[in-house]
Amino acid sequence: MNCHDSKEKMNIVIAGHVDHGKSTIIGRLLSDTKSLPEGKLEEVKERCARNSKIFEYAFLIDALKDEQSQGITIDTARVFFKTKKRDYIILDAPGHIEFLKNMVTGASRAEAALLVIDAQEGIKENSKRHGYILSMLGIKQISVIVNKMDLVSYSKDIFDGIVKDYSQFLSDINLHPLCFIPVSGITGINISENNKELAWYKDGNLVDVLDNFEKEASLINKPFRMFVQDVYKFSSFGDNRRIIAGTVHSGSIRTGDEITFYPSGKKSKVKTIESFNGSPVKELYPGYAAGLTLQEQIYVTRGEIAVKPEEKRPEVTSRLKVSLFWLGKEPVVKDKEYTLKVGTAKVPVSIEKINRIIDASTLDEINTKEIINRHDVAECILKLKKPVAFDTVEELPVTGRFIVADNYEIRGGGIILEALEDKQTSVRSKVFRRNSKWEQSMIDKEQRAEKYNQRSTLVLITGGKNTGKKPVAKSLERKLFEDGKFVYFMGIGNVLYGVDADIKGKNNNKEEHLRRVAEVANILLDTGIILIVTAIELRGEDIELIETVIPADRTVTIWMGEEVTTDVSYDLKVRENKNPEETVNKIKRLLQERGVIFKPW
Ligand code: GTP
Ligand code: MG
Repeated sequence: MNCHDSKEKMNIVIAGHVDHGKSTIIGRLLSDTKSLPEGKLEEVKERCARNSKIFEYAFLIDALKDEQSQGITIDTARVFFKTKKRDYIILDAPGHIEFLKNMVTGASRAEAALLVIDAQEGIKENSKRHGYILSMLGIKQISVIVNKMDLVSYSKDIFDGIVKDYSQFLSDINLHPLCFIPVSGITGINISENNKELAWYKDGNLVDVLDNFEKEASLINKPFRMFVQDVYKFSSFGDNRRIIAGTVHSGSIRTGDEITFYPSGKKSKVKTIESFNGSPVKELYPGYAAGLTLQEQIYVTRGEIAVKPEEKRPEVTSRLKVSLFWLGKEPVVKDKEYTLKVGTAKVPVSIEKINRIIDASTLDEINTKEIINRHDVAECILKLKKPVAFDTVEELPVTGRFIVADNYEIRGGGIILEALEDKQTSVRSKVFRRNSKWEQSMIDKEQRAEKYNQRSTLVLITGGKNTGKKPVAKSLERKLFEDGKFVYFMGIGNVLYGVDADIKGKNNNKEEHLRRVAEVANILLDTGIILIVTAIELRGEDIELIETVIPADRTVTIWMGEEVTTDVSYDLKVRENKNPEETVNKIKRLLQERGVIFKPW
């Protein structure tokens, strides 16, 4: 694959009110530019004749969709056609949701948009809402097609009226269309040639309008960003390399470049770039999907974003100020948990605060800060369960967009305006620095796991005072040790009087104390050990802090005592009892279930 050789490609989205003629126009474009498969037009026409149906150009899209869907799943018609100048991928977005979804998560993000308005019906609410979404998503290049000119006798006055009114609305939302173009999709007028019916119209036809869009060349000059889509392991014996697969959103990367992943902040170097057709590549550009292998094995997961350490760091936080476009039938409920998707990351989210709400079709501010209804746009603060990596939309629109789902259904989407601080901001920045300096061992995590027959894990035993945490921790250490495990019980005091000697006794040092315990744990976990730590009444935010410092998904939390006195979420609750043995067995079973230690069957 040589990314520069192929003909220029451009992604365009077509939007507009229902039945205003999007599919018809695409069908026309396909046939006029001779982009249809041989015999397709005749085949669809024949089929219509056989079923005594009037042929519609829109049917072409459905016919193509059927063919495409056998290979890949698509929920929005992606249609390919070409002019002399370039190849186009056009997204026919039948509704807001498909449209938003494609803009935010779709493989092809639109660089330009066509808004279709029916000359006879005029501007409708969705003509406005789609305009609003485009503006919000930062798509600057738009042209407006005034379709069905045949129904208004190709009237210049009607066309001019739409130009005037719609320009006004668009300029209110800061969109300035490159042009307005009158066409008739059904008769093919002004699609690929200028016709006498529109003698008063002197500018180019629709194909010219498309070719006049400019390629967004600037993405390649932006910082490198690639969302990790998947991590594949080579399956052949003794080969423990991984391929990190994703699509480049901006910037470029070459073999040998240093690469950092966020939110974890882990660093390595690109060893090879594997393309999906099998041939190795030296450099990757925006829009290309590929797999990276790394020189040093680090553990990254889906949802992380790959960047170059010398370029601008993405934001990492669990609090975001956003502009949210709501499409769910049910209004947004504060405190309800939804799912946020940013790039390939998926995180539980809830609304912390609503700053203001406006109606996207009238631009009126709505007089409530409590309920976000369907089709409203709200500026609000989102609180995530886990931090994500992203850029603000101003910095880089492609990584500053998100969607919100409820029960797997997309309910809304929008743009990230600002990264707000959360409780872990200061600890996180220390972790990033530490990770950027981290000396990677030649023995990787899996080799250690194989050797010791266990997955390194932090077992946190917490609960009220005098609930017998320490005796249980020590018995557990003994039990696992006798089973041949590599295990250690670390008394908190061991850290307090040593590593913490400089801060001990100072006020407000609880967070720093915990950070140091977690840093010590992080080093011990890197050795492959099962580490047992006890602490009184850990809260949710204490666990968050610990999980900011140590690798993800490596803690098991046990609450001891009848009553849970904090907001911590635990994996196992055990009553305080006089017989630690029973408790130890319960914890051991949990570790087996979690795959930390081997479970005989
Ligand atoms: P949805 O996908 O359902 O939102 O509709 P659409 O925007 O894709 O519209 P489509 O192309 O399906 O056209 C809707 C209807 O308008 C069809 O019956 C078309 O035949 C008709 N139509 C489309 N373009 C024109 C036109 O230029 N003139 C006339 N008279 N009818 C048209
Ligand atoms: Mg359609």
